[in-house]
Amino acid sequence: MTVKRAKLSCDGPELSEIAFGTWRILDQDPLPSAADIATRLEKCLELGITTIDTAEIYGGYTVEAAVGTGLAESADFKGAFEVVTKCGIDVPSETKAGVTLPHYNATAENLVNCAEKSLRHLGVDSIDLFLVHRPDWFTPAEETAKGLDQLISSGKIKHAGVSNYTRDQFELLDSIVNQRLVTNQVEINLLNMDALYDGSLAQCEQRKIRPMGWSVLGGGELFGDSIQARRLREAFEKIREKYDGAGDDALATAWVMAHPSRPLAITGSNKIERIESQAQAGSIQLERQDWYELWSAAKGQSVP
Ligand SMILES: NC(=O)c1ccc[n+]([C@@H]2O[C@H](COP(=O)([O-])OP(=O)(O)OC[C@H]3O[C@@H](n4cnc5c(N)ncnc54)[C@H](OP(=O)(O)O)[C@@H]3O)[C@@H](O)[C@H]2O)c1
Repeated sequence: MTVKRAKLSCDGPELSEIAFGTWRILDQDPLPSAADIATRLEKCLELGITTIDTAEIYGGYTVEAAVGTGLAESADFKGAFEVVTKCGIDVPSETKAGVTLPHYNATAENLVNCAEKSLRHLGVDSIDLFLVHRPDWFTPAEETAKGLDQLISSGKIKHAGVSNYTRDQFELLDSIVNQRLVTNQVEINLLNMDALYDGSLAQCEQRKIRPMGWSVLGGGELFGDSIQARRLREAFEKIREKYDGAGDDALATAWVMAHPSRPLAITGSNKIERIESQAQAGSIQLERQDWYELWSAAKGQSVP
């Protein structure tokens, strides 16, 4: 089984349908070495997971550099991965002079500075996909667009997109940038279906751009003790046999990927065997009633 590839939009990059998420990679004791990260990257490549999702802010601004050291461990990694990174969240840190409280900053100057820093930390010549991490209500869209345009024309980034944008915010920025936005990275999972209702997935479907789904396992909450999580696990059990005994993680991820906007899914586990299990999701085609079985278990009711 190899994870399939997907073009995000007609002018967008080709990524693996399942991406390797790095938010939590340093949430481990002891911290993973460069060799440990390289081992995970190697396993991802074996599975066909060629896309790395990271962000400036992850790990208190330390994850990008850790990913860079992992990528530097093997000559085979050169050019083997597509790198997606995000910027525009500032929190107080030794590395952020003058930041005294958490805030968003999607000004052209900050986007350009962040991208240049990401290039250095990740050790790559160009960022395949650069996302504005969160909408910055204080910055005019014209200003954000200027930064993205500048980064694309200088070759520092190949494509631009956004994350956690509402429909209107997406429309606004997309109407100004020179090169169309190629994705909106949003939270979508069985425990948080907001993206089904707020129009963000429908907008992607309409525009023929593929969203990227984050926390597709609800940040691990699917495996917790809540009534909702327990109901869902019973529902997974009920349908599992039909899908060759796929794990709860793969079924939950397949549920996200089945939306007509065809979201890509970002993994979040630090365990290789779990990434391997979740990677099965791309080859699972949930049947209509099974998809609704999971929806109903999540909601605790059948459709109205
Ligand atoms: N754009 C944004 O604003 C945004 C926000 C958040 C995240 N992201 C991206 O999305 C990626 C994924 O997000 P996420 O980490 O929240 O994803 P997730 O896959 O929903 O959650 C990962 C968590 O679930 C746990 N888990 C996975 N399988 C499990 C199992 N079978 N039993 C118990 N626990 C299990 C993992 O623990 P183990 O490590 O122990 O397996 C990990 O702590 C991030 O790495 C990041 O790249 C983007």
